Amino acid sequence: MEWMEPRSFAVDVPAGSMRGGGSCYQKRLKDMAGQYANAAVFAQMAAASADAVVYEVTDHRPSQRAGDLITGVTRMSPGDVAGEYFMTRGHLHGVADRPEMYFCLAGKGVMLMEAPDGQTRVLEMTANTICYVPPCWIHRSVNVGPTDFVTLFCYPADSGQDYDIIARSNGMRLRVMKTAGAGWETIANAGYQPRAQSSGRARV
Ligand SMILES: [Fe+2]
Repeated sequence: MEWMEPRSFAVDVPAGSMRGGGSCYQKRLKDMAGQYANAAVFAQMAAASADAVVYEVTDHRPSQRAGDLITGVTRMSPGDVAGEYFMTRGHLHGVADRPEMYFCLAGKGVMLMEAPDGQTRVLEMTANTICYVPPCWIHRSVNVGPTDFVTLFCYPADSGQDYDIIARSNGMRLRVMKTAGAGWETIANAGYQPRAQSSGRARV
């Protein structure tokens, strides 16, 4: 019997990364086209700095087996597009009943969650906050602070990601906006198309 080798990883909180995991990717402004309400302002920003990194992920993916775990760190830059805060693309897990745990290491953000029937939940996270994303909730993290928002995440290795579920509804039901006092509020996404209640459960 070959046992998988236990490993440890160093998390660099100021850098917002995990060293030694072996996998990393970045999402740049140009990769976020279509996500923001104000397409004209987004186009201006993307034209000026298409390669600006909105968020980057370093993680460890030991296998894709059910029962194994993917662990990593996400660093999201501060910023907004016409008052709509920088966010991740968001997804439902491809195996929809797989949950996820997020632990905030630095900064201030919110976890925007949406159930297949359109229920929404928004939880604020600051350093040392854990957010549990239950099975079958679409989730997207948003940086609502003036500094990097850094989280550690962990989820089952066979989860996968379904990004199209958000695109098919023309976004999530809520948008997270900057307020006059540099706080945050949610507003309705005017273009939201409610999804069939069966979606998100088809691949459970
Ligand atoms: Fe996830």
